[in-house]
Amino acid sequence: MKKVTFNRFGGIEVLQLVDAPMPTGDIIVQVKAVSINPLDWKLWQGEMKMMSGRTFPKSVGIDFSGIVVQGNGRFKPGDEVLGISSIFKGSSLAEYLAVKDVDIVHKPAAITFAEAAAMPVVGLAALQIFDKLLTIKPGMQILINGAGGGIGLFAIQLAKKAGAVVTAVVGPAAMEVAARLGSDKVINYRDERILNGGQIFDAVIDLSGKMDYRHAKPLLKRKGIYINTSPGLIEMIASLFSGGRYKLLFLKPSTEYLEKLVKLNLETIIGGRYSFENFRQAFEEVKKGGVVGKAVILL
Ligand SMILES: NC(=O)c1ccc[n+]([C@@H]2O[C@H](COP(=O)([O-])OP(=O)(O)OC[C@H]3O[C@@H](n4cnc5c(N)ncnc54)[C@H](OP(=O)(O)O)[C@@H]3O)[C@@H](O)[C@H]2O)c1
Repeated sequence: MKKVTFNRFGGIEVLQLVDAPMPTGDIIVQVKAVSINPLDWKLWQGEMKMMSGRTFPKSVGIDFSGIVVQGNGRFKPGDEVLGISSIFKGSSLAEYLAVKDVDIVHKPAAITFAEAAAMPVVGLAALQIFDKLLTIKPGMQILINGAGGGIGLFAIQLAKKAGAVVTAVVGPAAMEVAARLGSDKVINYRDERILNGGQIFDAVIDLSGKMDYRHAKPLLKRKGIYINTSPGLIEMIASLFSGGRYKLLFLKPSTEYLEKLVKLNLETIIGGRYSFENFRQAFEEVKKGGVVGKAVILL
């Protein structure tokens, strides 16, 4: 079977499509779709060495959907599933994948394999932001910076369900969808003037990795919360000395959250579709930015 691997850290050139033996394990899934996450390239570029380790070969791909071809008690052959393969090791960008039953849940019949693969990492991230870092009370003013990407479009929907007043900062291509999903105000991030409009927020959630605490602070009310989803050492130290106002997301995959996510019926936006053979083009284009929601590789 074919899978994508790499033998050293580096740019996109390190990725190789190789013939690999069929995986072995309790549950084997024939992969139908894999979505692209910024974490994919952070892993092969070596930015997550502390977590991924330095042994090679390493595999690529975290989110997936597919069909069980070898099952156990809970999952039987033919079941359609979605899930997360090992978050710091990847491996879903392959024709077949061995998984544990805690990694997968049944795919709702009403959604496509592409939609199913687009949900897990970003859906869980959005859920855990509001479950663990920020309790929304009706009327709260929330700024979501980078709201047009994977986490952001789910975060808009969750924040609106909870009664927040949402300002979404997005790229030009995502303005329409951010408004349709319920944002009260949509700002094109290339328009500096609007962010200087004087409004202040109960929370600023930065998903772009480009608005640090220093820049967010003037936009926050006195007890406002800043949430960062790209925590490095500097961010961890800063959050320790913020009096609880600077919070970091550390995603914890769990079956419980996956089950919760699929029941929420959130709208999944697919901004790009690629074939398995064109995986390089997929990563190159997505890395450049401008994709609305998620990009998906179809197998
Ligand atoms: N800590 C954790 O456990 C965890 C878990 C999951 C994800 N993450 C991280 O969370 C971040 C967001 O994930 P994601 O999947 O939502 O990424 P994404 O789909 O790439 O979304 C990021 C968004 O930021 C926008 N953006 C870029 N520059 C901007 C700017 N200057 N101002 C405002 N917006 C800007 C992008 O728009 P354009 O494309 O139009 O430029 C894009 O829509 C990533 O860094 C990811 O690695 C962390």
